[in-house]
Order: sequence, then C-alpha cells, then structure tokens
Amino acid sequence: MSRFVLKRRPAEDTPAETPVEDEAVADTPEPAPAPAQEEPEPPARERPEIDGDMLEAKLQIHNKLIDELDLSNLDQMTPEELRTQIGVFVTKAIADQRLPMGAAEVKDFTDDIVNEMVGLGPLEPLLQDDSIADILINGYNQVYIERGGELELSNARFRDNLHLRRIINKIVSAVGRRVDEGSPLVDARLADGSRVNAAIEPIAIDGPLVSIRKFSKKPFTLEKLVEFQAIPKPVADFLYGAVKSRVTAIISGGTGSGKTTLLNALSAAISHKERLITIEDAAELQLQQPHVARMETRPANLEGNGEIKQRELVKNALRMRPDRVILGEVRSEEAFDMLQAMNTGHEGSMATIHANNPREAITRLEQMVAMGGLRISQEAVRGQISAAIGIIIQAQRLSDGSRRITHVTEVTGMEGEVIQMQDLFVFKRVDTGEDGSVIGEFRATGLRPKCLDEMTRKGIVVPAETFDPSKPLLSVGGKNG
Ligand SMILES: Nc1ncnc2c1ncn2[C@@H]1O[C@H](COP(=O)(O)OP(=O)(O)OP(=O)(O)O)[C@@H](O)[C@H]1O
Ligand SMILES: [Mg+2]
Repeated sequence: MSRFVLKRRPAEDTPAETPVEDEAVADTPEPAPAPAQEEPEPPARERPEIDGDMLEAKLQIHNKLIDELDLSNLDQMTPEELRTQIGVFVTKAIADQRLPMGAAEVKDFTDDIVNEMVGLGPLEPLLQDDSIADILINGYNQVYIERGGELELSNARFRDNLHLRRIINKIVSAVGRRVDEGSPLVDARLADGSRVNAAIEPIAIDGPLVSIRKFSKKPFTLEKLVEFQAIPKPVADFLYGAVKSRVTAIISGGTGSGKTTLLNALSAAISHKERLITIEDAAELQLQQPHVARMETRPANLEGNGEIKQRELVKNALRMRPDRVILGEVRSEEAFDMLQAMNTGHEGSMATIHANNPREAITRLEQMVAMGGLRISQEAVRGQISAAIGIIIQAQRLSDGSRRITHVTEVTGMEGEVIQMQDLFVFKRVDTGEDGSVIGEFRATGLRPKCLDEMTRKGIVVPAETFDPSKPLLSVGGKNG
C-alpha cells in the first residue's frame, strides 16, 4: 500500500486522503532492527493502514532520503544493495524521530521506497506474490487480484491517478511504447514477461485501467495440470502422445481459461530436435524446447506506420525453416496462412483460439479466414480446416473458479459441406457442492480416435482403458485452485 512517490518538493506532496477498509495487524513494538537482508518472502500478509500523522512523518523521512542519498550512484547499485542502504537510513531516521514503528512496518516502509525507486511501486508486492494470477487496476484506489480462479479486492493503492499514470509510463516506456491522450490504449510486457494492457483517459472514465496477466515463473507442466485435476492423467497422456506424433492441435477457450498454460505444457511433448517458431502479440509462451525462434507483432507508431501483423509473421515464419509454427493466439486473417502452413509440412503446429466450444472454434476460424478478403469458397475453407486440424482441446474456467479441460474433440473430415467432429473426452457437470464448487466427471465417449493409427505407427501406445466410457476417468468435487 505504498503512497510514497519520489518527489523533491515536500510542498507538492500533501498525502492524498485515501482511507481504506482496514484490517489492523498488530505490530509488536520492538526496537526497529536493520531490515532483513535475506530474500523477501512472498508478501502474503496484509499490511496495516497508516494514520495521517505517521504518513506525514514518513513522507518527511522519504524526502530527506532523496536529499541525502547519492542518486548518481543508484544506477550502479543492485536492488539488494539499494535495499540495504535505504534500510540503514530508514532505521536511523525512525530512531532519530522516535517514531513508534514496529519491525514489520519498518520493513514495509523500506520496501515501499525501494519499490518506488527501482520497481513499480505498489504493484511490486503483487508481482512478487506467485499465488496471484491477474492484477486488475480500476483507477488508483481499486486494485483487484485473481487468486485460485477468484477475484478479490487487494489492499494495494496508488497515491492518486497521477501516481498510477507514472507507473504505467514506466512500464510502457521500458518497451519503447507510449501512452497519452492521443493513443490511450497500449499493450506492453513487464521485464519478467507479464502481459500488460493499459487504457487511460479519455477511454477510461474513472482513471487508468490496467490489466496484468502475471507470467508464471514456473509454468504448469502437464503433471501439474493433472495434479490440479484440470485434466485426467489418461487424457493428458493421450494428448502428449498426439502432440508428439504431430497431430495438429488447437486449444480453444474463453479469456483466462488456461489456453496458454496448456499450450506451454503440451509443448513438452515436442522433440528437442525440432525447430519451433512462435508468433505472438505479446510474447508470453514458455516452450520447453532449446530451439525456439520467437517473434512478436509490432503496433503502428504514432504516425500510424510500421505495423507488423501476425499474418506477415506467419508468412515470414515459413521462410525460416520451421518444423512447427506455434501461434500464441489466432485471431484474424492470419488464420488462412496458419492453415496453409499446417497443411504443407508443418503438421503438429499449434495455436490457441478464443471460443466457447470446439464447434465454435471452427466457425470462428472460418470467419477469420474470411477477414483476409481472399476469394475462396466456403467449401474450400472448410476443406482446409478439416485437413489441417487434428484435435481441438477446450479449456474452461468453471463457475467455481476451477479451470478444466472440458472437451477433447477430433476433427475427422468433411461430409458434404459440413466439417465432421467427434468428442473423444468430455467433462460433465453433475452437481454443485454446498460451497458452490462444481461436481463433475471426465469420461471418454468410447469413440476411437482416428489419429490413433498415426500415433501407433509412430510407436505411441495408448492403453485401451483410456477410451472406456463405462467409468469416469476422474471425478472432481472441489476447486482445483
Ligand atoms: N488448470 C489450472 N489450474 C489453476 N490455474 C490455472 C490453470 N490453468 C491456468 N491457470 C492460471 O490461470 C491464469 C490464466 O491462464 P492462461 O494465461 O493460460 O489463460 P489464457 O486462456 O491463455 O488467457 P488469455 O485469454 O488472457 O490469453 C494463469 O495465471 C494460469 O497460471
Ligand atoms: Mg493466453
């Protein structure tokens, strides 16, 4: 909950009155020790609110610090050195002024200052907390976080919208972008890979809106997804085998349903001997291979020039000798080029798509191809789609916040003008628990996948029980966090 902004003139720094609902945590009144030097633990604890006098006193320390610290040296210091220096300074200043601050508060205070100087201010504790998946800021005094699939209001606050704007500027300027009234929407990426979207006035009405999808430091593996009951083990094994044997897979799902996570996890099945080319709007994939060539689109500059779209990148990728092309998310006309790639020797390519079920994923692909304005009949497009795509995997965030794979559906060909599909595995909701959790089960439909022949040829054995519809592959009754 930092409210401390680096400014030299105290006159400007009248603290904004932003009372927050409080959950007082008692600090043991012990003499302030030097701040801990070891790695800060993930800040799971809520911080107490600060009263006005204390805020003023802290502000003074803050300004004194700016005056006395040798700022020219800052660049050469590591964050740890800076933290230590500031810690020593703060401890002394607090002792001099006899401020009644407990050890935890001194540490918070020191952290706040360091975070402002070298980091993203109030966002830092949230960025460091690995249990947080999303950070959603609606103006300076409302910061929501997503944990375990559920949204909650956090205690983080900015001093005012100007403070928030400064942090946004810090984020976007680091990746050579800018945000102002002229171009109030911007995508960016944090140094750690987290994906950021910011919208400011006049588009955002009540102050800047920022959405951050945190980069998972350790992306989920398939084993982890099985452990979280997002997918039954036999289905995970089947998908692993399918990707390994170059069955082309599309991962479909709504916003934040776990598409990218699954794509990352499935990429583990790809041989390390293959060359992968990834194409994304904001690079966030973490494929598990040594040989990955990563490309990212570029938005137009202020004059409206220089935009490089996914379509160009897909075309270019084909001149780069890829074994597989991985598209972070197919969303527009590049769908056509992607399908062509999948149909011309780049089987096993993968992409995610925003759709609510496998059938809709196909319809959306058709619409995307149409966006390219090519003169090609609907039947031909469908032919391309059915020839290119092997399986569609549907990810979903359920009403209780849990994320699960709800369908594995195979594209089996065309009949007349209709693309034929068959579900291989489905998740069915059977009931709702008292706590609102979704009770359900994963089951095979009993259909034998067409791609099994190809998999068998490549030496991949899938046990027959995997396709046995008579009993559930996995029953779930609670959240999988
Ligand atoms: N099975 C799961 N269990 C718990 N958390 C998950 C699971 N799958 C994904 N997550 C978490 O959910 C968040 C969203 O996942 P992810 O980025 O993969 O979604 P997405 O569908 O690609 O989102 P977007 O539509 O924004 O691209 C991430 O923080 C991720 O770590
Ligand atoms: Mg994604």
